[in-house]
Amino acid sequence: MKSVILDVDTGIDDALAIAYAIHSPELNILGITTGFGNVSAEEATRNTLQVLQLLNRADIPVYRGAERPFRRESTRHRAYDVHGQDGLGNIQLPPPELLSSGLHASDFIISMVKKYPHEITLITVGTQTNLALALEKEPFIIDLVKEVIIMGGAVTVPGNVTPAAEANFYADAEGADFVLQSGLPITLVGLDVTMKTLLQRRTLADWGSCGLKTGEIFAEMCSFYMDFYESKNPGLGGCALHDPLAVGVAVDPSFIKTTSMGVRISKEPENLGQSIGVAADKGISVGLEVDAERFRAHFLNRILPAEKKGSHHA
Ligand code: BDR
Ligand code: CA
Repeated sequence: MKSVILDVDTGIDDALAIAYAIHSPELNILGITTGFGNVSAEEATRNTLQVLQLLNRADIPVYRGAERPFRRESTRHRAYDVHGQDGLGNIQLPPPELLSSGLHASDFIISMVKKYPHEITLITVGTQTNLALALEKEPFIIDLVKEVIIMGGAVTVPGNVTPAAEANFYADAEGADFVLQSGLPITLVGLDVTMKTLLQRRTLADWGSCGLKTGEIFAEMCSFYMDFYESKNPGLGGCALHDPLAVGVAVDPSFIKTTSMGVRISKEPENLGQSIGVAADKGISVGLEVDAERFRAHFLNRILPAEKKGSHHA
């Protein structure tokens, strides 16, 4: 079993990634760290606690982290248009009964890596800020992390926030570049592969009628995200399972094929957050191909609690 820390900016696809990770017996989730991105760090923390409560896993500890980018006073990015005013498609989940821990997300990452050297898998599906802060405070952890799987970037395809940049790297370009140049063993799960792994609208109807509260809530939550995708990407055929694919790669790395290269993140205003692949350098395993059908079937088989599942179209 892999010991993982999931770093999120919850967000609709983050919520799906949390559920998928929880329902994956290969993963032992030590804690979830939160930060700004799709929403504020406060909202991401609340949303994470609400999703854990919905999934009856309020026992998983949550650590609130970065409120702002690594080297800037404020972010240029929020994604309420993609994820709704509450970040979860305006579904009005009950307020969380538990609070997040008082420990900062970056300190939790450091403490777990120290405690379990060479055993921790970090899955980061928001900005890279918490990890960058941890590396800056305690650079020695670089040699002690087992692997890092990052949902971020767009090396061979256009961005989704600007023509150049993907959202997670745009929101904190300096933090992303700091992490990518650190020497950590990184697998990049960017738009190159995540824009090919789609949730289809017909699945929402299946979830809504499957007889499970979680299914109904996820169907409602995802319909906001689906509407956004359909309006922005007519003809795409669904909404992208960005963050779940990073979890999928932790469970089964063979879902993607990677190429080793260097990746720099632009900090220049004209192409802020752009991922620039450097073929002559090696070191980052960049996902460029994905077995989308096999991944989607795996994801759909696990996303809802095990007791009673609706019929899914794979
Ligand atoms: C990424 O940005 C966020 O909106 C999503 O949650 C995902 O992590 C996709 O670019
Ligand atoms: Ca995210």
